[in-house]
Amino acid sequence: MNKLYINPKHKISHINPELQGHFSEHLGRCIYEGIFVGEDSNIPNTNGMRKDVVNALKAINIPVLRWPGGCFADEYHWKDGIGPKEKRKKMINTHWGGVLEDNSFGTHEFMELCRQLGCKNYINGNVGSGTVQEMSEWVEYMTFDGVSPMADLRKANGHEKPWKIDYFGVGNENWGCGGNMTPEYYANLYRRYQTYVRNYSSENQIKKICCGANGMDFGWSDTVMDICFRAPKDFHGFMDGLSLHYYTVPGTWEHKGSATDFSEQEWYTTLKKALDIEYAINAQECIMDKYDKENMVGMMVDEWGTWFDCEPGTNPGFLYQQNTVRDALVAAVTLNIFNKHSRRIKMANIAQMVNVLQAVILTDGDKMLLTPTYHVFDMYKAHQDADLVESFIESEKIGLDKEYLVPNLSESVSVDKDGKIQITVANLSAAEEYKIESILADTEIKSASAEIVTGEIHAHNTFDKADTVKKEAFKDINAEGGKITFTIPAAAVIHIEIEAE
Ligand code: AHR
Repeated sequence: MNKLYINPKHKISHINPELQGHFSEHLGRCIYEGIFVGEDSNIPNTNGMRKDVVNALKAINIPVLRWPGGCFADEYHWKDGIGPKEKRKKMINTHWGGVLEDNSFGTHEFMELCRQLGCKNYINGNVGSGTVQEMSEWVEYMTFDGVSPMADLRKANGHEKPWKIDYFGVGNENWGCGGNMTPEYYANLYRRYQTYVRNYSSENQIKKICCGANGMDFGWSDTVMDICFRAPKDFHGFMDGLSLHYYTVPGTWEHKGSATDFSEQEWYTTLKKALDIEYAINAQECIMDKYDKENMVGMMVDEWGTWFDCEPGTNPGFLYQQNTVRDALVAAVTLNIFNKHSRRIKMANIAQMVNVLQAVILTDGDKMLLTPTYHVFDMYKAHQDADLVESFIESEKIGLDKEYLVPNLSESVSVDKDGKIQITVANLSAAEEYKIESILADTEIKSASAEIVTGEIHAHNTFDKADTVKKEAFKDINAEGGKITFTIPAAAVIHIEIEAE
């Protein structure tokens, strides 16, 4: 019997809805086909956005969407994506698959997508190959509500009123595809570029995000914080967020491993590598705490997820991969970790939303399927905007190779705005079920309901059989007094909602 101790009265930190954010890049079939099909498409759409995809995304309360990249962001020149579509520049997306980019999805279309999704926007600017003027003008174009060259251009393009920018990234992966910079060089550029990301209205205070580390590259974060964050009293420094990128790659970058055809050992290796994100988070947290003692700057894990070999027969530059119960477990343990670090983590964006890497949705022509990862997000949305509370689960180390042992169980618990207790538990074992007794301090349980995502470890959804892995009601749960007991099957993620007396 594994015990799960919960203290619902001990609130630790607020879980920003943005911890369940998403990322959409001009990469493969993420934007084009996956989201945007154009108004003339036979696929049902609203202003060019696929209705099926938008509706599915709305159902999981997408809180924020990052765009246009990724590596694409530092090659993107926003003026190519505005104005009459037939006049927009066409070019080759050299970074991702060498396909034609016709710029039919640009600023107006992205803002329209966020409007339809009802989510915040996170726009990533170009430092690698763009100028300060270009970045500054983009912000003016989107947010200035007066007479100015860029505001007038926006109006001429059919959008009278300015939009609001929620988050603005000043470059992406500038240690790599965003210009191969040294941390000192980038940090100085960051200070300069962000100066011109102006707040044109008091109602729109743009949250500026500085490029942080690649996984465990702590030297980068330390230098960038040192140079870019100065926080004398009442001054916010130069940033609101520092990013962190972390991908789970079971093999090497050359041979990452198949998304669907993997051994039990690879199951554990993948989960161990996914759990290792906590080392990167802990380290970046320490560095941020050193400079920002008042916890003003958010850690933004704006790219995370599994990265496997692309599906056989697909363009390797499209990063299209299937998604199994293994991905569901990676999502569950990662989101539990984010919850536990919600004091510092203020946003996270899974890579990527549709048809790329650990996608929540896959499409094929007019067909669409929801992946196991989607169903985990669907359960975890209960944590959005809730308060993390104290919890601890007894666990043991399991696995086949001592280098890749993982805890058998992972959990996080929150109390939402209505006072309901939201528990999420993942069983990382490929084969064993576990009985769990959950003890809730000072709580009389009035009602408890649960749902589950589980399956054979390789199970996944296909366009012919889209419901193999799905969220289902979980009835086998016993609640009495301040205790609940249940048995979690192997390779499963459970969400329990409790109403207390
Ligand atoms: O998500 C795919 C790519 O991974 C992004 O473009 C880049 O930022 C990262 O290396």
